[in-house]
Amino acid sequence: MDKVTLSIDGKQIEARPGTKVLWAALDNGIYIPNLCAIRDVQPFAACRLCFVDIEGKPDPVTACTETIAEGMRVYTNTSRVNRLRRTAFELLIASHTLNCKECGKNRHCELQKIAHYLRVKLKPQRFRQMPRSLPIDSTSPIFIFDPNKCVLCGKCVWVCNKHHAVGAINFIFRGFDTRIGTFGDDPIAQSSCDSCGECVAICPVGALIAKAN
Ligand code: SF4
Ligand code: SF4
Ligand code: FES
Repeated sequence: MDKVTLSIDGKQIEARPGTKVLWAALDNGIYIPNLCAIRDVQPFAACRLCFVDIEGKPDPVTACTETIAEGMRVYTNTSRVNRLRRTAFELLIASHTLNCKECGKNRHCELQKIAHYLRVKLKPQRFRQMPRSLPIDSTSPIFIFDPNKCVLCGKCVWVCNKHHAVGAINFIFRGFDTRIGTFGDDPIAQSSCDSCGECVAICPVGALIAKAN
């Protein structure tokens, strides 16, 4: 079969067999909130923002992990998926700095886009904790890393380890303390980072920002 035909929010679409629901929707102009998915890469499914309902399935599923099927009917904007997304979103921003006006990603930030979609204000919500006050790492010649704005989407880790094959950064520590860091939690300048800048390009929020020239 060359193409699979399915419907998303009532719109008939065609996509290549094996395509995930998320990409089939985005490629056809239907937005599904997402933070951690990378096209043609094994889904990480960490952010839990891309829930959709699929006819015949008792529970919502993540669109980045669900493969399309012939005749599938997908609904991206039901009240129960938005309820789940709001909870996931509020947990994501529970300890976020939330000073958008002073952030280098202001107006180009995926968190802002998702907040707008979900009609959630980027301000303290029900799970609010103290904002993190981790040190900002400005030692790279080309970027600034602010872990207080990181949403742990894992995109920079993938690009550095798998795509660029340098492995300068990864997830470090566990539980609430989990964050992105270098081997030994050294400053970026003391790591194997070769300043390719691909992590900056892929970061969806203001955690990795290019330095001004
Ligand atoms: S990362 Fe996004 S949500 Fe966070 S402060 Fe920056 S612009 Fe605002
Ligand atoms: S630094 Fe950016 S790309 Fe890396 S995990 Fe955090 S939010 Fe994602
Ligand atoms: S995009 Fe699907 S869980 Fe993050």
